[in-house]
Order: sequence, then structure tokens, then C-alpha cells
Amino acid sequence: MQIVPFTADLIESVKKFTDENIGINYYSIAEMTANQKKSITINNKITSFVLIGEKNKILGLRLAYPPGNWAHGKGSKLHPELWPFKLSEAAYFQSLFVSVEAQGQGFGPLLSEKSIEIFKQLNTKGIVTHCWKESPNNSSMKYLEKINFKTVIEHPDYWIDVDYTCTRDGFPCRCTALEMIKIL
Ligand SMILES: CC(C)(COP(=O)(O)OP(=O)(O)OC[C@H]1O[C@@H](n2cnc3c(N)ncnc32)[C@H](O)[C@@H]1OP(=O)(O)O)[C@@H](O)C(=O)NCCC(=O)NCCS
Repeated sequence: MQIVPFTADLIESVKKFTDENIGINYYSIAEMTANQKKSITINNKITSFVLIGEKNKILGLRLAYPPGNWAHGKGSKLHPELWPFKLSEAAYFQSLFVSVEAQGQGFGPLLSEKSIEIFKQLNTKGIVTHCWKESPNNSSMKYLEKINFKTVIEHPDYWIDVDYTCTRDGFPCRCTALEMIKIL
């Protein structure tokens, strides 16, 4: 298995991966194309990463955007007044998904570490994310706390306006997000 930057040639296969692992149409091709562009820094580095297995099968995705390239997550709820840094100084961790067969082996933290390395080079002050509270085996919260993210506020029904079929509870998605931050 190898971790590679999320380059434009991977957009279609990454969209197929998110359909299977997050839910059908959670991301459209247009949004995934925008996500790939949002991952490109001013000095042309890429802050989102993909885990690739045999026969080029996508096994994991870490979407991450540098400061200045994002304004909010998939939902619009955001509380910058609760962070010890400004929105303009913050990076954003969007989706992190590892396929079931590759979970629990540390790939999630490894993918995230690759993004953090680049954020540090850009003097980023902190990272913001929306943790999926009901993720299977509580894996989302466990991995975020392991890498020192702290919860600032809880958002019930965070994804309710997203027109997709959730892998946990179908449509509409009634899952909860925890807005979490990590100081760099
Ligand atoms: C969250 C996720 C990306 C973490 O990546 P990962 O490579 O599994 O990370 P880790 O190997 O560090 O595992 C994190 C924790 O979850 C547990 N875990 C992960 N997958 C598991 C599984 N299938 N069964 C039981 N426990 C599991 C691990 O044991 C570990 O717990 P520990 O720290 O107590 O040992 C991945 O598990 C995943 O894709 N989960 C479903 C989607 C999700 O919740 N995404 C985050 C949305 S915000």
C-alpha cells in the first residue's frame, strides 16, 4: 500500500471510493474537483492524500485544505469565536475515510500526518474538523483524540441538508458532528 498526493487524475476513482464508503453522492464529481483544487497550496504542494492498494484500488482518503482555501465544511456551522486562532490561520480537515479492510492499522493517522507536515511548513496556527460522532467503533473520535484534537462544540443533525444517503441511517442523515480543533 502507498500514500500519494490527491492529484487531478485520481478524481474519478476517489469519487467512486467516497460513494462506496461515505454514501452515494455525498460528493459529486464537480465538488470533488473543487476539493482537489482547494488542496493545492500557494507553492503548488498538495495537502490531501490517498491510500492506494493493489491494482490501484483506492483504500483511503484524507481531504485537507490549507489556510485561505476554505470557508466552511460540508455543513455551514462553524464557531471561529471558540478557537484560539483566526479562520484565516486555520487549515481544515474534511473527510477522512479508510476502507473497512484497511481500518485499525494506523493508516488514518498516517494520511493525516502527511497533511500536517505541509500545514506546518505554511505556518498554519491550527486545524479545524467536524468529527462524525456516530462513526462505527467510535473510530473517528478515537483517532482525532489520539492526535490531540479537542472538542469545542457539538452540532446535532450537522449533515441534514446534504442530499445524500448516509451509510449509517439513510436519508436524511441525522448524524452529529463535533467541531474539534488542534493547535499546531
Ligand atoms: C476514522 C478512521 C479514518 C481512522 O483510521 P484508522 O486507520 O482506522 O485509524 P487507527 O488505525 O488509528 O484506528 C483508530 C481507532 O479506531 C479503532 N478502529 C478502527 N477501525 C476499527 C474497526 N474496524 N473495528 C474496531 N476498531 C476499529 C482502532 O482500534 C483505533 O482505536 P485505538 O486507538 O483504541 O486502538 C477509520 O477508522 C474510518 O474510516 N472509520 C469510518 C469513517 C469515519 O469515521 N471517518 C471519520 C469521519 S470524521
